[in-house]
Amino acid sequence: MYLLKGKKGLVMGVANERSLAWGIANEAFLQGADLCLTYQNNIFKERILKLANSINCQFTLECDVENKEDINKLFLNLKKEWGKIDFIVHALAFSDKNELKGSYFDTSKYNFRKTLLVSTFSFTEVCKGAKGLMSEDGGSILTLTYIGGERTTPNYNVMGIAKAALEASVRYLSVDLGKNNIRVNSLSSGPMKTLAGSAITGARHIFKHSEKNSPMGKNPSLKQVSTSAVYLLSDLSSGVTGENHFVDGGYNIVAIPKEYINLFLNLFQFFDQLFSWKVLPFPYHQNLSLLPELHHLLYKYQLFFLFFHFGVQIYEQARPSHLKSLQMRQNQLFSQLCLCK
Ligand SMILES: NC(=O)c1ccc[n+]([C@@H]2O[C@H](COP(=O)([O-])OP(=O)(O)OC[C@H]3O[C@@H](n4cnc5c(N)ncnc54)[C@H](O)[C@@H]3O)[C@@H](O)[C@H]2O)c1
Repeated sequence: MYLLKGKKGLVMGVANERSLAWGIANEAFLQGADLCLTYQNNIFKERILKLANSINCQFTLECDVENKEDINKLFLNLKKEWGKIDFIVHALAFSDKNELKGSYFDTSKYNFRKTLLVSTFSFTEVCKGAKGLMSEDGGSILTLTYIGGERTTPNYNVMGIAKAALEASVRYLSVDLGKNNIRVNSLSSGPMKTLAGSAITGARHIFKHSEKNSPMGKNPSLKQVSTSAVYLLSDLSSGVTGENHFVDGGYNIVAIPKEYINLFLNLFQFFDQLFSWKVLPFPYHQNLSLLPELHHLLYKYQLFFLFFHFGVQIYEQARPSHLKSLQMRQNQLFSQLCLCK
């Protein structure tokens, strides 16, 4: 069974074969959809034409979403060629690379405006254009987001604000368009190695961090993101709208990564070993102490604290700045542990 057989879909945001838009277009093609791809400008044209040919794409169009004329032309062309449309994938975003590092409060007004216009407002404009082209059967519109829109992640900065606004737009648009049987959803992907993804300073560390700390122990593949997107575009999800669907190996549900707790437990076990091998002497005399176990325990915590303290000092000197928040979490956890005991 082909999930998108007979459906016509527009996919915006293909830059190359690593793009999320490309993964989704390819999967939609495998599920029987007829497609139109858009590219931002001439720089991408040749590459996109090649990719488009490989999936029998019916036509490709240039569309810079900063330019209202381009968006109008896009929908006029779609009306001329197809008369109607069944789904849209909005997989594009932009922000100045120089502001995807350091502190959010250094964001310039110019880049704030540009980031939100391209990455957020364009989605509303696209939904407006789609309304007239989606028949009585309605349709499905999907945008791509990231957990940085809900929680802070290092260096994501103004893009986090744009994604938060994008996710809120999904909710408002789903109400506006629900009566027309048009569903609007977002898919929150785990980090992927794409052009846009690599613009964020420290992307490699973010990728590794979520890989290590997601319940599945890995980031999603392009195929996994794309098949979930196809579900949201297809009739399988006909009762789903206004939703943000995570495809991130479960990373978003984790509050405290398991590795930290394990780190503490391992350290305690390590001290136990040292005591049992008599590498560390007990600082009390059996006959003098009424509660040797308690004494032992307190001594162990003292040593643990010393090791931890010096460990942090060394780490402090060597760590890259984007790991600051990670370490703050470790410190918080440590003090909580001390309080609990
Ligand atoms: N890569 C990740 O880790 C990741 C994770 C979650 C969500 N996302 C989101 O997925 C979407 C696709 O990004 P990607 O990772 O595939 O990167 P990508 O670089 O392959 O795609 C970004 C696309 O945005 C387009 N674009 C930028 N400015 C534009 C403009 N003014 N007009 C038209 N198009 C414009 C680019 O041409 C490019 O095709 C983005 O919304 C991104 O925020 C990415």
